[in-house]
Amino acid sequence: MSRLDSFIRRMSAQRLLLDAAAERLVGIDGPIIDLGIGAGRTYDHLVALFPDREVFAFDNFVQAAVGVLPDAHHMVIGEIRDTLPASLPRLGRRAALIHNDLGSADAVGNAAIGGWLAPAILAVARPDAIIVTSFVLPFDKAVSLPLPDGVAPGRYHLFQLTV
Ligand SMILES: C[S@@+](CC[C@H](N)C(=O)[O-])C[C@H]1O[C@@H](n2cnc3c(N)ncnc32)[C@H](O)[C@@H]1O
Repeated sequence: MSRLDSFIRRMSAQRLLLDAAAERLVGIDGPIIDLGIGAGRTYDHLVALFPDREVFAFDNFVQAAVGVLPDAHHMVIGEIRDTLPASLPRLGRRAALIHNDLGSADAVGNAAIGGWLAPAILAVARPDAIIVTSFVLPFDKAVSLPLPDGVAPGRYHLFQLTV
């Protein structure tokens, strides 16, 4: 598969899982977190999916287009390892959905990130939060949710915490 095909499939899976997560979030209140705003494509989709919720974006730096930038309260700039576990006062309440798009194609690097990211997420997530993630995160108490049609196993991941 070409890298372009692989990218397109990963992005299609991301959108399908975010849309599936939105259906599951009925009755699960709380803000939305986008980890790694990057160019802001996912953030923009989350804002459209959740017009009645606050959406917070995290990144080391801002590179999103001006039209999709969060306001200063909803854009948390800095190393996520530090900023995410300390963000509950800014969030106001525990998050209902966390989307993780950190990491890369390097499985070893992703595992290292997962080692600090999973507990950082638990520090700010509801006990029944939905997690959409580009790589598997090592939660002790979580279930894998069924993938929607069109998403091959292993391409993108959908969890619900059972803390
Ligand atoms: C693949 S990009 C995200 C793309 C994004 N979903 C979009 O729609 O454009 C990953 C982003 O995560 C950020 N990032 C990666 N590791 C980080 C860390 N430890 N702390 C803060 N930001 C991080 C990078 O700066 C980059 O912007």
